[in-house]
Amino acid sequence: MQTKIEKIDASSALAVKIIGRPDEEPLDFLSFREKLSYNNISHPEKRREWATARLAIQEALKALQLPYPGFFKDEHGKSQSMNGQGFVSLTHTPGFAGAIFHREQPVGIDMDLIREKILKIGFRFLDNSELDFLENDPVHYTMAWSAKESIFKCQGKRGVSFRENILLEPFGIQDSIIKGKIRGTDFADHHYHIQVRKLENVILTYTIW
Ligand SMILES: CC(C)(COP(=O)(O)OP(=O)(O)OC[C@H]1O[C@@H](n2cnc3c(N)ncnc32)[C@H](O)[C@@H]1OP(=O)(O)O)[C@@H](O)C(=O)NCCC(=O)NCCS
Repeated sequence: MQTKIEKIDASSALAVKIIGRPDEEPLDFLSFREKLSYNNISHPEKRREWATARLAIQEALKALQLPYPGFFKDEHGKSQSMNGQGFVSLTHTPGFAGAIFHREQPVGIDMDLIREKILKIGFRFLDNSELDFLENDPVHYTMAWSAKESIFKCQGKRGVSFRENILLEPFGIQDSIIKGKIRGTDFADHHYHIQVRKLENVILTYTIW
């Protein structure tokens, strides 16, 4: 299974994996609780996505020379480290799964396939000011969607609306950084810098608090 590992700095790393054949890599590193969760997923594609995201965290941790602590989901659905140390975020999209880990700061990662149909649902997740600067191009819209997903996952709490509470500054289709903020919630005034990459037909974004 092919993996792209990026050590961002001494405290953080990310890994992106191509989702391969089932049981291609051993999952014996998972915690008991994770093995139970995994065994409860019946849909074969979802199983592979779930497992590949955990293999990706394991690779990111290896790049930082950290052991795999096991992760559980908190009441918002965000994965938390079982030993209480560090921050993780996970993502999967058809064909790929990814993960980012940071020793000290919350992180968010997201990957999305670029699809034409995103142009039709822009009004659901974009503010009017964002609709004004975005070109009518699925790549540009997917960059905006994914950046908002990364911000959402970094803050981690349910109840934050993409359209009402997450606002992006104007950015171009070739840009590799998007700036955005959360407004109108307890997390208002926090500003994020989101990194953007294009991998084949997928947009990858990530942010560190
Ligand atoms: C939960 C949500 C963040 C998942 O994102 P997604 O793009 O559908 O799926 P991804 O594969 O990229 O991410 C899935 C991972 O997100 C993580 N996740 C779930 N809830 C989370 C939360 N509250 N905070 C951080 N991470 C979360 C999980 O680790 C999950 O992976 P796992 O199931 O293997 O453990 C997203 O669907 C969501 O609910 N967004 C906010 C709701 C919203 O406003 N939607 C759009 C309005 S128009």
